[in-house]
Amino acid sequence: MNRGLERRPARAESAQHFVNHAIPEMEQAVESEDPEHFMREFENFTQSCNTCHAAEEVPHFNVKIPDVRQSPIQLD
Ligand code: HEC
Repeated sequence: MNRGLERRPARAESAQHFVNHAIPEMEQAVESEDPEHFMREFENFTQSCNTCHAAEEVPHFNVKIPDVRQSPIQLD
């Protein structure tokens, strides 16, 4: 992310919330090992992707939480 901001300085302002809040809060949710905390934060995290896409005028890049497992390894 930091290298991306260096190379795309015009996008840096929109990235502030993502870098300073969304990523650290997501990291804390992972570390908590609490599934409810994780899902709540994952929804916020996903929303913050779309907030930036809207601010940067690419709202058609609409990030959604996957509802199927995208892996050839399937869990029963
Ligand atoms: C700092 C603002 C910002 C944040 C935060 C952000 N994006 Fe983006 N994203 C963009 C911009 C701007 C583009 C369009 C870039 C372009 O096409 O030049 C983009 C494009 C994309 C694309 C399309 C890439 C392609 O060309 O196919 C995907 C996929 C994507 N973002 C996923 C995400 C996900 C997932 C997150 C959150 C985890 C996220 N983005 C967070 C700004 C952001």
